[in-house]
Amino acid sequence: MASLHHHTASVPYSEAKPDNSSSVVEIHHHHDDEAITNNTSAAVAQMEASRKSNPIILTWKDLWVSASMGKRGTKAILQGLTGYAKPGQLLAIMGPSGCGKSTLLDTLAGRLGSNTRQRGEILVNGHKQSLTYGSSAYVTQDDTLMTSLTVREAVHYSAQLQLPDSMSKAEKKERAEFTIREMGLQDAMDTRIGGWGCKGISGGQKRRVSICIEILTRPKLLFLDEPTSGLDSAASYYVRKRIKSLDEKDGVQRSIIASIHQPSAEVFQFFDNLCLLSDGKTVYFGPASSAIQFFASNGFPCPALQNPSDHLLKTINKDFDQEMEMEVGLEGTNGGSLPAEAAIGILVNSYKSSELNQQVQNEVATLSKKEISSSIEKKSGHASFLRQCIVLTKRSSVNMSRDLGYYWLRFAIYITLAISLATVFYRLDTTYASMKDRGSLLSFISTFITFMSIGGFPSFVEDMKVFERKRLNGHYGVTAFVMGNTLSAIPFVLLLSFIPGAITYFPPGLRSRYDHFLYFICVLFSCLMLVESLMMIVASLVPNYLMGIITGAGIQGIFILVAGYFKLPNKIPKPFWRYPMHYLAFHTYAFQGMFKNEYEGLKFDGGLLSEKKYITGEEILRDTWQTDMSYSKWVDLGILVGMIVVYRVTFLVIIKTTEKVKPIVGSFNLLLSSSPNQTIHVVENPNATPLHVELV
Ligand SMILES: Nc1ncnc2c1ncn2[C@@H]1O[C@H](COP(=O)(O)OP(=O)(O)O)[C@@H](O)[C@H]1O
Ligand SMILES: [Mg+2]
Repeated sequence: MASLHHHTASVPYSEAKPDNSSSVVEIHHHHDDEAITNNTSAAVAQMEASRKSNPIILTWKDLWVSASMGKRGTKAILQGLTGYAKPGQLLAIMGPSGCGKSTLLDTLAGRLGSNTRQRGEILVNGHKQSLTYGSSAYVTQDDTLMTSLTVREAVHYSAQLQLPDSMSKAEKKERAEFTIREMGLQDAMDTRIGGWGCKGISGGQKRRVSICIEILTRPKLLFLDEPTSGLDSAASYYVRKRIKSLDEKDGVQRSIIASIHQPSAEVFQFFDNLCLLSDGKTVYFGPASSAIQFFASNGFPCPALQNPSDHLLKTINKDFDQEMEMEVGLEGTNGGSLPAEAAIGILVNSYKSSELNQQVQNEVATLSKKEISSSIEKKSGHASFLRQCIVLTKRSSVNMSRDLGYYWLRFAIYITLAISLATVFYRLDTTYASMKDRGSLLSFISTFITFMSIGGFPSFVEDMKVFERKRLNGHYGVTAFVMGNTLSAIPFVLLLSFIPGAITYFPPGLRSRYDHFLYFICVLFSCLMLVESLMMIVASLVPNYLMGIITGAGIQGIFILVAGYFKLPNKIPKPFWRYPMHYLAFHTYAFQGMFKNEYEGLKFDGGLLSEKKYITGEEILRDTWQTDMSYSKWVDLGILVGMIVVYRVTFLVIIKTTEKVKPIVGSFNLLLSSSPNQTIHVVENPNATPLHVELV
């Protein structure tokens, strides 16, 4: 905890800390000052720019959200919420779990899932517009971080990706370091984040890393979903305080909307406005300081010595009503406390008719009319595309080299398999019998060895998750991600094809010229890249890695079946299996290429029944394997390489279109399931109130 002390100077009870911490205080203060002075030159210019820039005012009016639950109809999650977030203020959303806090944040940030419908009006600075990159940031409830990176690396890479090119590398680094200290993570800087399989930093520290990454760009509107869950009260106090104090640092007025669970009394004091939800209904919206009074005036006074937020939450939590009734039954009376269900009813109604509600309505009306320049100016934005590619390649390489499951495990198993193959097929000769063996060996390599590449899939899915999250936050684009992933994978796949490839190639005595060997490695490499590309496509279509592995294995199984080894090409049933499946399967070209590479120019002893003295490789290719001899082995390799490109581009297109199509699918659902006179999506709809009842 010493790490947190350096900011305690302004906290009233910091004097009570043991003496030995004062030295820590000084050291850290020194660091901070240094950082600040270093930062100033860069910061001054920025400060000037951002002072002129507009703050963001967010208002929402009569917001309804419902989720379709399949056949069981729809469920109303948010019911007619109205509110606002003003610059320089912190709006806290509180309520029992499941009351719709995350949903409200998602709705405001414009990222509701596709099975939900929303109605009502959300205005940014009085206009219907989406929040642009850099102006807002969203820290979601669950942390999606690259587990193999250290805290420092994760924040540094993010800084390089998110901050504009106009900042120098050193400035970005400084900003990263500064933000890490800001979040009290300096002691965990060089610890790996960790995740499944390896222990890393604690859950509370992960939360803070997530916040760190999102506040790097100093966004003017900040959504935080339970930023302090998993933090002890002291840590959450400082996190709050520092998020709030970001304003003072650079003079930009920020609007902060945060859902919060269990704030301590001290943290509660930071709230400017409080939105108290129960079951998607507003119990209270207004100044946090008046909440207790509102409750008291409705017959729920806060008992002395109780934390105000605890009192609020306890009054409106109805999840345990039944249990309470039982307790009441046992004890006889229970101090006259009402079941929460009834309490909520009273409060919701009382709020509806209250002065406070009227004030909020008025405030929303004035805020949405206020003349602020219509659009949020575009920030100079991201790092350039090239920089993104470079940083992502670097980051991805680090991740691949540290994540055992990505390539190393496969490498070990490939070596084992290669040694097994080499010993089983040791020293093939040119007798009639060995003719078949060569074919078996080559087809085993090009099917099973490449098939096993799906082993890296779980790691890729983790990678994707981080990517998806960051893409929603607009940190970098799909193309940069695919480029980064492809470039960083190449050295590993080369290693994977070269060493095990060499082990299986020479002991059996396959064609010994180096150009034959290189061709063989090229085909193996292409196949491995292709399997990876195929799995990328699968990953973009199925929701989790278990389903992905099964789907990927199934697809490859079918490809291998019709590639021409298990059933000769001419014997494959023509409809569907021959045309098009045989030609779509990349294994077909791998077989043909490897077979041509091996057999062309070889001579085998004639069989006992044959009158000829020897059989040429070409004859075997044509008659035994029925390979298409009309083109050379290089064409086969060319097709494989072309397929890699096609597969990767397909992946890119799928991700790009799902990004665009998702909202369309969402509104399509909406069209199907809502009556035509209902308004769709976010539309201004002043007289919609009577219709809401139908939604519930
Ligand atoms: N996409 C959805 N489909 C169905 N139900 C949902 C969906 N999103 C949220 N819900 C339901 O809405 C309620 C509120 O969820 P949420 O906003 O996550 O609550 P909180 O963050 O306050 O704990 C929960 O009961 C949840 O099950
Ligand atoms: Mg939540």
